[in-house]
Amino acid sequence: MALLPILRFPDPRLKKVAQPVAQIDASIRKLVADMAETMYEAPGIGLAATQVDVHERVVVIDVSEEKNNLLAFINPTLEKCSGEQVGEEGCLSVPGIYDKVERAERVTIKYLDLDGKQRTMEADGLLAVCIQHEIDHLNGIVFVDHLSQLKQGRIKSKLAKQARVTA
Ligand code: NI
Repeated sequence: MALLPILRFPDPRLKKVAQPVAQIDASIRKLVADMAETMYEAPGIGLAATQVDVHERVVVIDVSEEKNNLLAFINPTLEKCSGEQVGEEGCLSVPGIYDKVERAERVTIKYLDLDGKQRTMEADGLLAVCIQHEIDHLNGIVFVDHLSQLKQGRIKSKLAKQARVTA
């Protein structure tokens, strides 16, 4: 396994729309393992392949307290959304920035598991938020894209300052 570098907002590669995975082979399983290691190391509760500059529809999530419930979704699609919730979101591609985003309270997704089997899952609460956030990434959308232009401008200048300090 290997840690993968995470793209930082506003890197234009975060805007690429990821392509469906055609075949679940050893390279996809390695990608999932590397993404999981990178997510746990960060630490974060979700990571989309887009964030590690791989533009295929692969997501890993673990919202458990003990970090022992890894979920891997290949080609996830939102089938149903209902209700509303507003929570503070953050993102490994937007370090140190948290803001409120409105999401569906409950979602149903379809996806392929690592054996290529078609599966359906229902989720609510934090897991539902995380699924919507990660599918957004696959579509080239970062959570700050849901915020006002004014807030986005402030976030860009804050991150640019951080980059100068750490460079
Ligand atoms: Ni994110």
